[in-house]
Amino acid sequence: KIRAAVFASGAGSNFQAIMERSDLQCDISLLVCDKPSASVLEKAENFGVPTFVFDPKKYASKSNYEKEVVRRLQQANISWIFLAGYMRIVGPTLLNAYETKIINIHPSLLPYFPGKDAIGQAYQAGVSTTGVTVHYIDEGIDTGTVIAQEPVEVFSDDTEETLKERIQQVEHRLYPIVINRLMK
Ligand code: GAR
Repeated sequence: KIRAAVFASGAGSNFQAIMERSDLQCDISLLVCDKPSASVLEKAENFGVPTFVFDPKKYASKSNYEKEVVRRLQQANISWIFLAGYMRIVGPTLLNAYETKIINIHPSLLPYFPGKDAIGQAYQAGVSTTGVTVHYIDEGIDTGTVIAQEPVEVFSDDTEETLKERIQQVEHRLYPIVINRLMK
């Protein structure tokens, strides 16, 4: 089976959705996390997934911590990377080591609302439709080739919270489907 790593920085609801997919076509063999206090770490422990946790502040540069990350990935025989709420820009060190093997899920219909707080950006902009994108990582911020997209309607009585809930429900369904498609 293909061995993959999930990268996450926060709550880990997408990590959980991937883990709960009973017919996942790969093994999630490592969780990489850049936030020692992130609650995704408890989820990894519950699922028995090994973790590599690092604090970027303790490294001199992005390439320094990414070298260490690449070392850990290679040690664990990882061939694919699924970013799931990993809130850092992937640098050339990691990108060159895993070219065309890093995908990301983003809570908007890219190229609209790239970067941070895409749900808040869309809500503030007052659009009537936003959505979810799964895309390959390249050297830009949320600019890589799109693999799948699904629209999510914004209702007139939505709050940012209710919109986020609906977007994340779509993410949790879509990401495992796209992953399975790519593993074949
Ligand atoms: C998800 O909504 C994901 O799309 C978003 O962060 C959230 C993480 O939630 N990612 C980005 O905004 C990337 N730019 P989770 O930790 O519960 O999976």
